Amino acid sequence: MLVLVLFFSCRKPPEPTDDGPVEAEVRLPDLPDSLFGYSALSFPDSWLNDSALQLFGSSGANIEISDAGATLGRVLFYDPLLSADGTVSCSSCHLQAHGFGDNTAHSIGLTGEPSLRNAMPLANMRYQRRLFWDARTVGLENQVLEPIEHPDEMGMQLSDLPDQLAALPYYGGLFHEAFGDSVITADRVATALGQFIRCIRVHTSRYDEGLNTEFANFTDTELEGRALFFNGVTRCNQCHSGLNFFSTQAFINGLEVDYAAAGDAGIGALTGYADDDGRFRTVSLRNVGMTAPYMHDGRFETLRDVVDFYSDSIAWHPYLDERLTVTGVDGDGQEPYQLALSPSEREALVDFLLTLNDMVIQDAWWLSDPF
Ligand code: HEC
Ligand code: HEC
Repeated sequence: MLVLVLFFSCRKPPEPTDDGPVEAEVRLPDLPDSLFGYSALSFPDSWLNDSALQLFGSSGANIEISDAGATLGRVLFYDPLLSADGTVSCSSCHLQAHGFGDNTAHSIGLTGEPSLRNAMPLANMRYQRRLFWDARTVGLENQVLEPIEHPDEMGMQLSDLPDQLAALPYYGGLFHEAFGDSVITADRVATALGQFIRCIRVHTSRYDEGLNTEFANFTDTELEGRALFFNGVTRCNQCHSGLNFFSTQAFINGLEVDYAAAGDAGIGALTGYADDDGRFRTVSLRNVGMTAPYMHDGRFETLRDVVDFYSDSIAWHPYLDERLTVTGVDGDGQEPYQLALSPSEREALVDFLLTLNDMVIQDAWWLSDPF
């Protein structure tokens, strides 16, 4: 704390300029007197010992999270002064109330140009090595600087970032606490953002409570929905699988006959291969009740729309994933699966998906806007 006080008192507020972002009165982050214990957060043993999760849990396992590092990351995440015109922060598109995703299909950044894809919810990054809908970037620490530089998102030159942050009265002290000296670099920004985002751990939903109580806490329709999700007929859990309800693999789930023609081929746009046309990451369904709209382009507004899609409208595609074809993984057909769920089954499936919401994360002050 002493360090912080010193910095606040000996640093001058930024010079006002005609066009600069710091023209407005600089707001200071409101931080607690003693650091929140981010480093003490952990996944439950059931996650850490889960053999499937262990396979890809290594990407975050050795990354050290310090209380001061994650605190700095929190400030950076919510600070619009990381953008070229001082108006856009990570939290402009990744909203805590929406599972750190966006509640509009296409986010608006610096230029007002809508993003191509729906902003992704942020949760349980320890288990996610390949990032973005098309898995194009490997490693969270490599990813977090991309939106800062992206011309339509935050539009900032990374080479200007250290000076822009050093001009603010609060960063010198925060970097000092996190890294031992007040030098500001883009790498340190990435490290701190990575630490903060890794603290968004989603494992305290009603579903998790159910795992410990044999689902005594579930209503009848939630129980029916759970059975439908896992019964092997809907095949939902064959892709959205395990404790994190996801797959590290990307699949074609039949939203379009020809994704490239529809405007976004996903991984196909990177590889040019026909069998990647429309291949997108199988995102986690954790928090899914708060992350509407759905799919890479936010085309579905409600979970009921999603369930209706899987039930009736999977499109024929030459490389539709076998799990969504009539013959399933054992066949070589491409005819889309027709689940034809009854109205009450659809409602039950939606009710089950809602049990995956983690209200602890939604309400956590230590993940919230400090400004
Ligand atoms: C203008 C809106 C916008 C802003 C600002 C923004 N993001 Fe994003 N974010 C997106 C979109 C859209 C995607 C998905 C892009 C894609 O897949 O091509 C995304 C994806 C991500 C992902 C990938 C998640 C995953 O599961 O793969 C991470 C992590 C992320 N953003 C972190 C950040 C951080 C950190 C910041 C601030 C430095 C930030 N974002 C700022 C819109 C935004
Ligand atoms: C073949 C694998 C596969 C199966 C089976 C599958 N999904 Fe998906 N799911 C995906 C992929 C891939 C995406 C992302 C597709 C995209 O955005 O283009 C997705 C997206 C979703 C989303 C949107 C998530 C978000 O944040 O936007 C929901 C909800 C969902 N699936 C629920 C279900 C349900 C319920 C079932 C069973 C009826 C199911 N899925 C079956 C692969 C699958």
